[in-house]
Amino acid sequence: MKKLVFLTGAGMSAESGISTFRDSGGLWEQYPVEAVASIEGYYRNPELVIRFYNERRRQLLEVTPCEGHRLVAGLDSSYDVTVVTQNVDNLHEKAGSHNVIHLHGELMKATSSRDPNNPSCIVTLPEDSLDIHMGDKAKDGSQLRPFIVWFGESVPMIEPAIMEVQSADILVVIGTSLNVYPAAGLLSYARSGCQIFLIDPNDVNFDPSLPIRHIKKGASEGMKELIQILTCSNPI
Ligand code: APR
Repeated sequence: MKKLVFLTGAGMSAESGISTFRDSGGLWEQYPVEAVASIEGYYRNPELVIRFYNERRRQLLEVTPCEGHRLVAGLDSSYDVTVVTQNVDNLHEKAGSHNVIHLHGELMKATSSRDPNNPSCIVTLPEDSLDIHMGDKAKDGSQLRPFIVWFGESVPMIEPAIMEVQSADILVVIGTSLNVYPAAGLLSYARSGCQIFLIDPNDVNFDPSLPIRHIKKGASEGMKELIQILTCSNPI
């Protein structure tokens, strides 16, 4: 089976109704990114940050995967698929993707403020008790916090993601402005001969030396076109 790796960003979930970050009307226009998405912001005002992610989590329960998520998941039966996502939502999993690497954490999980990547402190929040409160404790006794990788923090899942991209036969980038590193640097690990596609309705800044085929459409329409191309050029 050919190895197909997706790298997805906020645009992947835009058609489900979740705002992107940097488009006009995006989340970072409404909220100061350094206040709600940096480790310094969390130290400064943990209550505000915890409340911000409680709201995001409640919104997530109101949305469902879009056709694009479902088309990605549908490829699991024909390819060896890994989805590397910058999204903290669980819409790839809900659509049925089995192999998902979350680079920037997961909204439905909480962890320790002292040691956020300690696996024994990471818990999934139950759907009937979604909110984190000040005073809630992680297993190590520290304040429970969202399991989100904030600006200023390390990205431990980048190593497994690099290994996936290095062994990809086909790499498909969907809905990311490629502004945030180390995720944006993943493209440079594609081996020569790897087919690279980009699905995004807008122009995206990427290394012009990379042989990228841009499908200039939204995630769902773009996935339909990709599947057509793959079926013609790589009979499965
Ligand atoms: N389908 C596909 N792509 C879309 C769609 C759509 N329907 N609508 C918008 N887009 C594209 C935009 O053109 C843009 O290129 O999605 C991209 C969204 O870019 P950003 O808002 O910058 O989101 P992303 O790249 O995922 O951000 C990376 O930054 O704020 C941090 O941690 C956060 O994971 C996030 C990271």
